[in-house]
Amino acid sequence: MGRVIAITNQKGGVGKTTTSTNLSACLAELGKKVLVVDIDPQGNATSGLGIEKNELENTIYDLFIGECELDECLQKNTLENLSVLPSNVNLSGAEIDLIGVEHREYILKKELDSIKDDYDYIIIDCPPSLNILTVNALSAADSVLVPIQCEYYALEGLSQLIYTINLVKKRLNPELKMEGVVFTMYDARTNLSLEVVENVKSNLKQTIYKTIIPRNIKLAEAPSRGMPINIYDPKSAGAESYRLLAEEVINHNEDGSYTPENIKEEKGKKSKKWKR
Ligand SMILES: Nc1ncnc2c1ncn2[C@@H]1O[C@H](COP(=O)(O)OP(=O)(O)OP(=O)(O)O)[C@@H](O)[C@H]1O
Ligand SMILES: [Mg+2]
Repeated sequence: MGRVIAITNQKGGVGKTTTSTNLSACLAELGKKVLVVDIDPQGNATSGLGIEKNELENTIYDLFIGECELDECLQKNTLENLSVLPSNVNLSGAEIDLIGVEHREYILKKELDSIKDDYDYIIIDCPPSLNILTVNALSAADSVLVPIQCEYYALEGLSQLIYTINLVKKRLNPELKMEGVVFTMYDARTNLSLEVVENVKSNLKQTIYKTIIPRNIKLAEAPSRGMPINIYDPKSAGAESYRLLAEEVINHNEDGSYTPENIKEEKGKKSKKWKR
């Protein structure tokens, strides 16, 4: 059965979409069957994967409001092994449309449960807010992956996010787990990036992925060509890092070897990956 991972952080521009699309594409490259679910009205994951978001007959919005069936909005095999539940600006109306709708926190879960068996991974790209759409993602997810941008205010808002995750866990989805934290836009030329990593590591009692995503211009360019990084520039540092992250996610899930305990043991040692 597919593992559903919500990629979330209510802070804007921290690398949620870049991580959703490129992690998904790298998982697909490794032979995993992947579904990307775009629940952000900005539709960046949709367009970043080459779908013309404003020319779609149906999007996830129509699914949310019960105006289409899942099959009618699913974009199958956009890339090899990778399908997309697309979104566009219409989804910004969902918050209002869903007022008073019964079990509105579980709409996405209900849909994803019906197709979970068709995929190895279902990756949900969340909007930069803790609204009903994000609550739907957290209710549907098995785990949460939080991208953290290597910048001065990285920790700001994280306690609110962790509070929300715990609240959803308590009230809506008791099985919800913390997949972990991944650092993005790491700039090896500045001390600040390293300081942020060290600061978050010592303040956050969460699994932290060993792979750190570097700041890489190719990662910023790829979405404008509608391609994930492994296709746009397969040899770039960005592609290499998202491949490593994909391998880590697979290992994490398949042999359970990557636990918070062995992170603690590694403290103080700097692996090659940290130095990149
Ligand atoms: N590792 C990176 N190197 C260079 N640029 C990056 C990297 N990661 C993300 N970017 C760029 O930073 C910007 C924000 O990234 P992204 O859209 O992934 O963040 P987000 O968290 O999804 O934003 P939002 O909160 O608006 O949904 C984008 O222009 C993206 O191309
Ligand atoms: Mg985004």
